[in-house]
Amino acid sequence: MSWPGGKSRLLKHIIPLIPEHQCYVEPFGGGLAVFLAKKRSPLEVINDLNGDLVNFYRCVRFHSETLLTEIEFVLNSREEFYDFRTQLGLTDIQRAARWFYRNKTCFGGCDMRSFGTSAVSGGGAALGSRAARMETIRALNVRLDRTCIEHVDWEKCVDLYDRTGTFFFFDPPYIECCDTSYAAWKPEDVKRLKARLAQLKGKWVVTLNDSPTVRAIFEGCDLTPVERAKGINNRNPKSRKYRELIIRPKDLSVPPPGECNPPPAF
Ligand SMILES: C[S@@+](CC[C@H](N)C(=O)[O-])C[C@H]1O[C@@H](n2cnc3c(N)ncnc32)[C@H](O)[C@@H]1O
Repeated sequence: MSWPGGKSRLLKHIIPLIPEHQCYVEPFGGGLAVFLAKKRSPLEVINDLNGDLVNFYRCVRFHSETLLTEIEFVLNSREEFYDFRTQLGLTDIQRAARWFYRNKTCFGGCDMRSFGTSAVSGGGAALGSRAARMETIRALNVRLDRTCIEHVDWEKCVDLYDRTGTFFFFDPPYIECCDTSYAAWKPEDVKRLKARLAQLKGKWVVTLNDSPTVRAIFEGCDLTPVERAKGINNRNPKSRKYRELIIRPKDLSVPPPGECNPPPAF
């Protein structure tokens, strides 16, 4: 999955920080980069407020064969891309198929609004392989087996799953940031998260964009700055790097380095 703010380029920093736990929860699941890279946990919960995204994951989990049939005959065409944006009266499976097609063919894998084109070899989302898309769904179907897929506000998700054996990976929207498929957070939102963290029974790691506001709100926590390459606009040297913060409680000792394991085969 391509998703704005996705953490695929930070996995080597984040995965080793996941402590022992019984229940793994991602209240801001998005494209699930960390969930898909870590080892399986005994209990796993993914959540997001975006209804299209959650509908897609649920269809992958419960109706993957029908979803594959829907996707199999979709072409990589500009006309279909724009038709899919406006079609009404779809079933959930049809909606999931069209949404996934748009995710895989839109500009930069992010905007979901414009058809991605490129004259450069290897570029252009619309030139992506349909066979690879179908493989993605099959693999995701296996990985989501036994995963609970929630569609609630992050605070509700925390209320539902906070236990001493829970580990939360929080990756909320960036603050004071750009236009994506979801709204940027305001400093008040980050303060609310910080206040909730102070009450948590479970363990946690947060990632957010590195800004003076975020640093001030999380003063007293362990802040590790990291840089990642930008997904789009990557050809402009001035905007190639994006600075993020990995935020943890001060008293959390670093667990032994983990590995970025692929999910076990079944
Ligand atoms: C930075 S993205 C997560 C990216 C994800 N970690 C990945 O690797 O792809 C933030 C996500 O939070 C979701 N979101 C925004 N507000 C939310 C809320 N109040 N509750 C739950 N999810 C929310 C957005 O839909 C978006 O998918």
